[in-house]
Order: sequence, then C-alpha cells, then structure tokens
Amino acid sequence: MGVRGGCTLLALGAALTACAWLLGSAAAAGEPGTAGMRRRRRLHQEDGISFEYHRYPELREALVSVWLQCPSVSRIYTVGRSFEGRELLVIELSDNPGEHEAGEPEFKYIGNMHGNEAVGRELLIFLAQYLCNEYQKGNETIINLIHNTRIHIMPSLNPDGFEKAASQPGELKDWFVGRSNAQGIDLNRNFPDLDRIVYINEREGGPNNHLLKNMKKIVDQNTKLAPETKAVIHWIMDIPFVLSANLHGGDLVANYPYDETRSGSAHEYSPCPDDATFQSLARGYSSFNPAMSDPNRPPCRKNDDDSSFVDGTTNGGAWYSVPGGMQDFNYLSSNCFEITVELSCDKFPPEETLKSYWEDNKNSLINYLEQIHRGVKGFVRDLQGKPIANATISVEGIDHDITTAKDGDYWRLLVPGNYKLTASAPGYLAITKKVAVPYSPAVGVDFELESLSERKEEEKEELMEWWKMMSETLNF
Ligand SMILES: *[C@@H]1O[C@H](CO)[C@@H](O)[C@H](O)[C@H]1NC(C)=O
Ligand SMILES: *[C@@H]1O[C@H](CO)[C@@H](O)[C@H](O)[C@H]1NC(C)=O
Ligand SMILES: [Zn+2]
Repeated sequence: MGVRGGCTLLALGAALTACAWLLGSAAAAGEPGTAGMRRRRRLHQEDGISFEYHRYPELREALVSVWLQCPSVSRIYTVGRSFEGRELLVIELSDNPGEHEAGEPEFKYIGNMHGNEAVGRELLIFLAQYLCNEYQKGNETIINLIHNTRIHIMPSLNPDGFEKAASQPGELKDWFVGRSNAQGIDLNRNFPDLDRIVYINEREGGPNNHLLKNMKKIVDQNTKLAPETKAVIHWIMDIPFVLSANLHGGDLVANYPYDETRSGSAHEYSPCPDDATFQSLARGYSSFNPAMSDPNRPPCRKNDDDSSFVDGTTNGGAWYSVPGGMQDFNYLSSNCFEITVELSCDKFPPEETLKSYWEDNKNSLINYLEQIHRGVKGFVRDLQGKPIANATISVEGIDHDITTAKDGDYWRLLVPGNYKLTASAPGYLAITKKVAVPYSPAVGVDFELESLSERKEEEKEELMEWWKMMSETLNF
C-alpha cells in the first residue's frame, strides 16, 4: 500500500512523537508561521468550526485538533507528498480507524485538486469538524454514518497550488494562479486516459472495469505523472472505495461521467453504463444545495453555456470534454463511483462568505455520503464459507462489472428497479440471482459459489453411486 500508517492515540506523548512528521515545521520555506496566523481575527467561529481559510500549517492543525477531539473514531494519514514536499493529508472517520471492516463500504472526499479552487478545501475541514462534533453530541444520523462507513477526507490534493494562490495579496485572486501543481501540471488532466481504452473495448470487446489492472509499475515509471497524481492513483487502487466526490470551484453544478466524449467533439452527452445511477447520485448532492438546484439561477458569468445543466447536475461530456480527469479514472480503474462537484462561481471567494458556502453545502455533503448505502451489497464465498476476493459482480443490462474486496465483500450502487445479478470467479460455477432494489437502504445479497473441482468430485461420487446400484441390481 502506498498509504503510510496513521497515528494511533495510545498515549498522547507517544502519539505526538509518532506524528512528528505531521506536526513538524512547515515542509517548504517561506510559509507564514502558525503564531502569526493565530493573531488573525477568528471569523465566525461556531461550535469549534472557524469559517476562515486554512494555510498549510493551519490545515494540519485543524485536522490534528479533530483527531485529538475524536481519537476513537478518527485517524490522520498521508498518501504521499506534493512536488514541494507537503503531505497529502487525509483524515479518516470510522469506528475502526485504520482498517477495512468486512462488509463496510469506504467513501472519499477530495478537495482543492486545483489549488486555486479553495472552497472545497475549507468545506472538507469544516465537514471533519462537524462529523466529530455531532458524533460527540450523540447525533444518531452521524453516529450511524461513522459506524457503518469508513470515511476518508482529503481537504487538499494540491497544497502547493493553494499556497501559491493564497499568497497573492488582497482578496481578488487571479483566475489561474495556483491551479496547477508546482510543476505546472493540471492534475485533473494528468490521469491515464482510460476513457479512450473503454471506448475501444465497447466497440471491439474487452474488459469494462479495472482497466489499469497489473499496470501499477507502468504508473510508477511514467515520468509525465505528477507526484500528486501517482499518490492518488495508488490510493484509489489500494482501498476498496465505493463512492467519492472531487470538489472544485468556478461554477455551480454536480458533474457525472463520462467527462470525455466518445467522438472527441467538445460537447456531447457521454453516458457511462451507470448513467441512471450517476444522475441519481449527482442529484443526491445538488438537490440539497438551494443555490445549485435553483432552476432560475443565472449562469455564473453572462456568456457561460449552462444548457447542459439539469436540476443542478450535468453530464461531463455534455458540458465540455475533459480527457485525463480523475472522475472517469476512478470508475474505470476501480470500483469507485466518483462525481465532480463545482461549488462556487468564485474560485477563491472572500473569507466572510465561507460560512454561507458551508450552510449551502452541509446537507449535500452529508446526503451524498449516505448514498453509499444504496443498491445491493453482500459477500461472495465458497461452499466452506471462505471469502472469494476479486470475484466479479455483473448486472444484466449494465456493461460495467464490479469486483469483490479481500473479504469477498462487494457494494453495487444501483437506482431502484428489478435486476439480475451474477457472481462469478475463475474456477467456480457462476450464480445469478434476481433482486428488487428500493431507493435505500442497500439490499443484502450473498452468493455461495461451488468450485469446479468440488463439482467434479460430486460428479465422480454420483457416478460411483450409480455404478454400485447398477452392479447390485444386475448382480455382477
Ligand atoms: C444530526 O445530523 C443530521 C445530518 O447532518 C442533521 O440533519 C440533524 O439536524 C442533526 N441532528 C441534530 C439533533 O442536530
Ligand atoms: C482478478 O480476476 C481477474 C479475472 O477474473 C484476473 O484477471 C486478475 O488477475 C485477478 N486479480 C487479482 C489481483 O487476483
Ligand atoms: Zn477545478
């Protein structure tokens, strides 16, 4: 795993030593010291949540303070470092931090991939604080969520870009400064373009999932991939994520796959096999955000073409084609369904407005997270009850399979309807089951597969029985 172990709070002293890398001095030179930042007026502080921008040292402090407040249900870890050496920090919220629990789905939020799109970064810090606060207050919704989901929150995938954007003097920030990483790479165009591969496979036959399987080495050796991109690719492929959102800014819409058009044209509705499910997931975000879902909202800028927007959602390709994005990469390289949320017309809005962005997005962020408990879930095991990892779950009529995780556990997001699900694995007899799926919660469907060698044994025994009976009857 490319994931460094987190800090466990056995004893505070020991933990702090173990986490020296986390609390240590700023990774890059020229960053404002935390003492200086603390002098700043605390804007709109409420329930331990400070509605203000967090520079890199403050981001670390904010995550550590959540962890110190909720040590039994949180953990901080890093998936790697940015080009300039800042940690790509993640705070995990789970009743069993640091572990995949059999049957429990894993969720992720990623913010600030474009370093100058700052609202998502802040909302994710506020979200971590909110989840911890509500958990402690005994809020049942949040307790259930944390007990039944492993939640990973990465406020910034591009901490270098953010520092660059935030360092500009004054409130008005340039539209582009800090968008790319420190090497000038746009991270959301830097992923292996798996859309091109799946479009060929659709026509000529070939896999419809996990298109990067057994190619991790190629990823590591590819010099065109930014360190941030490589780190997140490993993360995506190492953890059995089911659902995810990538938070951006510059517009107000929930965008779903595919992002890249089939024909290569600039605008074209580009449905993926799970189009109905993705539309529903995207609405699960937009419908709780009053500004995003307002049908009479004027476009962010006078000449913007919002004609593809429906109820605050859009198909990516219908809006504008994006090759090499992270969203489609998730869907095509792993079991994870990801949408891309544009949170604000302004990429780096004035600090005083952060609280209102939180208010507009709080219910969306929670509701979207809850979507992970939809569709069908269960286990694939053999007749002895041993888990079958990497078994395939396919749904009739949907040309996108998902696979089981190491405990044989799977999660298949689906909209309400009647489906035929097939579980298969090399060396086993496939089984198909019919299932009626409501809006939520997910229906449990387990599969017990008979191995072909067991079947051969059985057939041999049946033949022996028959032979015995015949020989007794015919008396020879
Ligand atoms: C508990 O959390 C949910 C989800 O954020 C929220 O809608 C609800 O109002 C909270 N309950 C209380 C009592 O605050
Ligand atoms: C998973 O299964 C597929 C085919 O079912 C196989 O090609 C692949 O190598 C397996 N991967 C692992 C990690 O076992
Ligand atoms: Zn962006």
